[in-house]
Amino acid sequence: FAAEPTVGERKQVENIAHRGAAGYAPENTIAAFDLAVEMKADYIEIDVQRSKDGELVVIHDTTVDRTTDGTGKVGDLTFEQLRNLDAGSWKGEQFAGELIPTFEEVLDRYHGKAGILIELKAPELYPGIEEQVAEALKERNLDKPQNEKIIIQSFNFESIKKMDQLLPKVPIGVLTSNPKDTTPEALQEFSTYADWFNPSYGIVTEELVNQIHSLGMKIGSWTVRSQEAADFLFEMKVDAIISDYPDYVDPRK
Ligand code: G3P
Ligand code: CA
Repeated sequence: FAAEPTVGERKQVENIAHRGAAGYAPENTIAAFDLAVEMKADYIEIDVQRSKDGELVVIHDTTVDRTTDGTGKVGDLTFEQLRNLDAGSWKGEQFAGELIPTFEEVLDRYHGKAGILIELKAPELYPGIEEQVAEALKERNLDKPQNEKIIIQSFNFESIKKMDQLLPKVPIGVLTSNPKDTTPEALQEFSTYADWFNPSYGIVTEELVNQIHSLGMKIGSWTVRSQEAADFLFEMKVDAIISDYPDYVDPRK
């Protein structure tokens, strides 16, 4: 058997910038994604939702209140209303004028430069969003991932099962922080359609990592906001670390 790739003593892990380099720049904005690429992250992680008039947009919360100067639910606002919001100032005046990006502009700007870990956020609020995401990927030939690193994940398991059917070649990830999802039976069921099992790091154990690997899945864990948490996950030998601070995962930065 070939030895596992290592950097020094450490196993090589995928460095995934959570909502972009969200520790340093306003999450889910071009500023945060550009910085993640500059910091040599392997992937950017993005949260996808939909405007009232059907545009796919990149924002984490189901309301705009926390990360913009507006109020209201993402799905109750038109794209024009969303696009008029300032999504940067809350993080610091130097980011004033950052916009809520569209899903398509993120695909166009970053594919080929970094992998894209796409989270369908609360897809139950947006019927048909799976088909729309699949279409946007197909139009760009991103559904044939031999040259492009794309993963689709969600806390909504029905939604990712549907994505697996729509895009059979694109890797699928299960998101959870619920220990009930780590029983042998649950993991076995996930392994029938998922390639990644992505838990919060509070429920990661060496045994869990071994079980996931023996079912042929990989494990990426989140959300790392300290060096200690990153070091713990290196010790657990996970395959990917999803962090607000890409430099905690790879100190080349
Ligand atoms: O990628 C994992 C992580 O993004 C899941 O949690 O709430 O930050 O979307 P959340
Ligand atoms: Ca997310």
